[in-house]
Amino acid sequence: MPRMPLIAGNWKMHGLKDALGFFDELAASGAVSEGREILVCPPATLLAATVQAAHKHGFRIGGQDCHTESAGAHTGDISAEMLRDAGADYVIVGHSERRADHGEADDLVRAKAEAAGRAGLTPIICVGETVADREAGREEDVVGRQLAGSIPAGLAPTGYVIAYEPVWAIGTGRTASTGDIAAMHAFIRSSVPDGEQVRILYGGSVKPENAQEILALHDVDGALVGGASLQAESFAAIAKSA
Ligand code: 13P
Repeated sequence: MPRMPLIAGNWKMHGLKDALGFFDELAASGAVSEGREILVCPPATLLAATVQAAHKHGFRIGGQDCHTESAGAHTGDISAEMLRDAGADYVIVGHSERRADHGEADDLVRAKAEAAGRAGLTPIICVGETVADREAGREEDVVGRQLAGSIPAGLAPTGYVIAYEPVWAIGTGRTASTGDIAAMHAFIRSSVPDGEQVRILYGGSVKPENAQEILALHDVDGALVGGASLQAESFAAIAKSA
């Protein structure tokens, strides 16, 4: 089975109600196609509103994080079941901004991915080294440890997605070279069970100008896009490169 390309937008903490025209624009751009899956992960406040617009046009919606439990006394948190109930199909877990801002470690990320799977969501499990790790030449050690610690043993290879996002390439305009991306994606594929079936996305300053060469790499099955996913025009241009 070929791996279906997935182009995912992570809006992070951006987006008010006036952003909803995005989906009509994206649909009008011709980005929807049988051969690729398009996902948008808006802030939780927009989930209910975006899901209708997105589903009407054939896009998928995801959360940006979830709790490990399905319900409980956890003020401010959102469970995977709640995301599923709101119409989400995916949830991002272990993004480097959550690892850094909220001290999330691999065991917590793994528990969140497990919770996502239980709720019927596909977790997008994020890994990636810091600039210090890369400069010290330990990027494979770091990513290998994150993979071993963050991926639940019980998930089928088609039941989760990995996003490789080198921390130094996020929001910096500094993209990893195609050589570095190809090497890391091949390493990731060889590190996980049944790796040939696992979709591996690249993230970090993906833009219309560099999407084509990145998405053409053999082991790159899509992109996780931050800044350039906020405008329908640039996100559509990236999607069409897949
Ligand atoms: P940028 O595309 O803005 O670099 O963000 C990448 C990212 O963190 C997506 O999750």
